[in-house]
Amino acid sequence: MIGLNSGCILGEHSSVIWFLRGVCGQNMGYTTVTEPMNEPTGSMVYVVLVCVVAALGGLLFGYDTAVISGAIGFLQTRFNLDPAWTGWAASCALIGCIIGVSIAGILSDRLGRKKVLILSAVFFLVSAVGTALPRNITEFIIFRMIGGVGVGAASMISPLYIAEISPAGIRGRMVTVNQFAIVSGILVVYFVNFFIAGQGTELWNVQIGWRWMFGSEALPALLLLFLLFRVPESPRWLTKQQRADEALAVLSRAGGTRHARQELAAIEDAIAHESGSIAQLFRPGLRIVLVIGVTLAVLQQVTGINVFMYYAPEIFKKLGSGINSALFQTVVVGSVNLTFTVVALWTVDRLGRKPLMIIGSTGMGISLLALGLAAFFQKAELWVLIFVLGYIACFALSLGPVVWVVLAEIFPTRIRGRAMAIAIVCLWAANFVISQTFPMMNENQWLIERFHHGFPFWIYSALCVVTVVFVWLFVPETKRKTLEEIEKMWIPRR
Ligand code: BGC
Repeated sequence: MIGLNSGCILGEHSSVIWFLRGVCGQNMGYTTVTEPMNEPTGSMVYVVLVCVVAALGGLLFGYDTAVISGAIGFLQTRFNLDPAWTGWAASCALIGCIIGVSIAGILSDRLGRKKVLILSAVFFLVSAVGTALPRNITEFIIFRMIGGVGVGAASMISPLYIAEISPAGIRGRMVTVNQFAIVSGILVVYFVNFFIAGQGTELWNVQIGWRWMFGSEALPALLLLFLLFRVPESPRWLTKQQRADEALAVLSRAGGTRHARQELAAIEDAIAHESGSIAQLFRPGLRIVLVIGVTLAVLQQVTGINVFMYYAPEIFKKLGSGINSALFQTVVVGSVNLTFTVVALWTVDRLGRKPLMIIGSTGMGISLLALGLAAFFQKAELWVLIFVLGYIACFALSLGPVVWVVLAEIFPTRIRGRAMAIAIVCLWAANFVISQTFPMMNENQWLIERFHHGFPFWIYSALCVVTVVFVWLFVPETKRKTLEEIEKMWIPRR
């Protein structure tokens, strides 16, 4: 019994299957492999369904990080929070994320990817219930941090698991499904918050409404938990544990018997040449992979995305919009983010990682420069919206998904868990720094007098230039290479 059986969930000819085939393309990178008549061929639908289940971890990542935006005002009134406590209530989850990633790295190499995903679903569930029922702010913060641990773990294990189970030809697209899920989670929770807030008066929202916002997370958490029991363990992790038969079964189910044998041989060969020690990451040959991973993770954050994800209404208000218009514009931002993630889904395995990142970061830099100028010259709100949307569109088709794709594929199998953890801890730490410093810059009188709110955007724009140069010079193209081929780029054979 390997796990999820696509045939029993969906009929072979259903429209969902047609859609999934579209997502996969006509083949999955097996063009050179022809299966003998009596050998079973793989099922791309199976791969996609397994990846979609894993990507629910991404949906919870988006849902959990964004739920706070709708609830924070009510929480503030309910518990009488001063600005410092309000900030802590909003950002304590990010500390949980850092803890979650650190634990998930070691655990996923020891226990397996699937078990850690199950664990993060349990954390989501506990946090959903705990943050819905706290009697005081301390209880709330404890349960919010527990949710953060789940987000941190899922932010790492979902893309890692997806990359390890997907064939090379569609790996980029499958990891991008995870980004699509993150962005969908953000948009869905925005609507859920909006819907809940509309169910009662201000007083009801302060007493009860916000509890439902956090509690609503239990539904996707339960769904993830239930479905995770039906997906297989990662074949690469199984091979590492000397469970080659099980690995072969999963690979055959995904790509057909012949492809599976080739893939298993390549995985075994790659593992035989790895030392397995985290210390090897600091050796000259491999040090560069770590530098690339960490730098990309940090650049994804310091180019400013979460300033828009967490503070969009505030930005629109400061630059001239009314409150309703600001909330509406925020929905537009979420929708554009989702739409352009779909564009990335179709292009990441065709155009490649590098061109997408270079084109996208260039567009992000230009949009931010223009946004800074619009703020500086105090131009009308329409221009602000256009430049913000330009920035979001460029992020969604480049750094948003592609950084996660690259992080999931550049490290050698045996240490992938721990190496990804180092990079993603840096990603969350950079997120924390940016989310904390933006309001400080945006409300600093000295800066406002000189730059009229344009200053932070020019800083992020300069960091986009750094990103373009860095990707151009240091990041190799990994499109259509198997994980083992990528590994060979770093580990020289004797
Ligand atoms: C980033 C998140 C961000 C999200 C927004 C992800 O790739 O890692 O920090 O909130 O994209 O779309």
